[in-house]
Amino acid sequence: MGKETPQLIIPENLKPKDLRFGSGPSKIRATQIAALAAANPSYLGTSHRQKTVRDVVKSLRQGLASLFNLPADYEVVIGNGGTTAFWDAAIFNLINENAQFLSFGEFSNKFAQAASTAPFLKQVDIIKSEPGDAPDYVPNSTFDAYASAHNETSTGVMKEVKRPSDLALHLIDATSAAGGAMVDPKEFDVYYFGPQKSFGSDGGLFVALMSPLAIERIAQIKAGKRWIPPFLDLSIALENSRLQQTYNTPALATIHMFENQVSWFNQQGGLSWSSNRSKESSDHIYTWAEKSGFAKPFVNKKELRSTVVTTIDFIDSISGDDISAILRANSIVDTDAYRKLGKNQIRIGVFPSVELSDVQALTNCIDWIVEHL
Ligand SMILES: Cc1ncc(COP(=O)(O)O)c(C=O)c1O
Repeated sequence: MGKETPQLIIPENLKPKDLRFGSGPSKIRATQIAALAAANPSYLGTSHRQKTVRDVVKSLRQGLASLFNLPADYEVVIGNGGTTAFWDAAIFNLINENAQFLSFGEFSNKFAQAASTAPFLKQVDIIKSEPGDAPDYVPNSTFDAYASAHNETSTGVMKEVKRPSDLALHLIDATSAAGGAMVDPKEFDVYYFGPQKSFGSDGGLFVALMSPLAIERIAQIKAGKRWIPPFLDLSIALENSRLQQTYNTPALATIHMFENQVSWFNQQGGLSWSSNRSKESSDHIYTWAEKSGFAKPFVNKKELRSTVVTTIDFIDSISGDDISAILRANSIVDTDAYRKLGKNQIRIGVFPSVELSDVQALTNCIDWIVEHL
């Protein structure tokens, strides 16, 4: 807490049961940890090339295909390095020559900037919008790939996934959206993410749900002259994924917790069930902010408001940083605004693991803080 941040002790009976509201890494359920602990002697510390681990990878890949209702010819590809590594892999393996990128926050912009420096690409077109808004594609037959984020984690903007062209690949960064928002697989060729948000696991792994067109593109580029570092070679990732393993050693705990969460979603009713949990929590936050008199949703257009990462602005007389600092001093963590956005706001992650009752308790705590400031 800064020097001038008031010291306030929130009454225990007001506090949420689980105190984690981060936008990733985010809440991991106790059940996931218990399942991992129970599997420890036979699973943790054993070879990732053997059946024990490969069975879990198989169940994870099948579970994801079922969760996202993937057509039979789509494939679930996994590899190490998280989304940031996947961006580089996508640049090497999925873009032929010309691509158009939507940039509407830190993460979508990072991918666009990384592509713009690739010496083997011809044209990288970047369409930007102000933070809190999202741009649209301007399709053109020269592009062989289009790229956007489903959810821009830095601003709390969620943009519906809609294919701009049938002739080009549609690459979607779903790092924070996947599992907490509906998507139609026909609208993407690659829907990629890490497990540290809705899937309540750790970072460092990537998953890419790929259409036949994307798989064909990987083979086509591989057959050409482009040098591809093996770690970023998606044909190698694909080959290993089909064998229920990764090219190099993965974090086994991450895979186990991830699989447990995917099974939980599927048992409870699938993507509509998990997305609805986030929707209910985010609806609560936006409605609370609008009624509060001291806060409002940062994203003006209702249709762009994220169901998983909510961003809330405060009036000038209340400091969002103070609110987050007071919450943190009371062990309620990770409501801080995205560090580089520079707004007077807080950001609350409401992935499916987060209970609505805890979100309600959190807004009660913020009301209490504002009353006592
Ligand atoms: C939308 C989005 N894209 C990419 C990333 C980067 O993911 P990673 O840290 O797994 O590389 C993040 C991380 O928060 C994200 O939210």
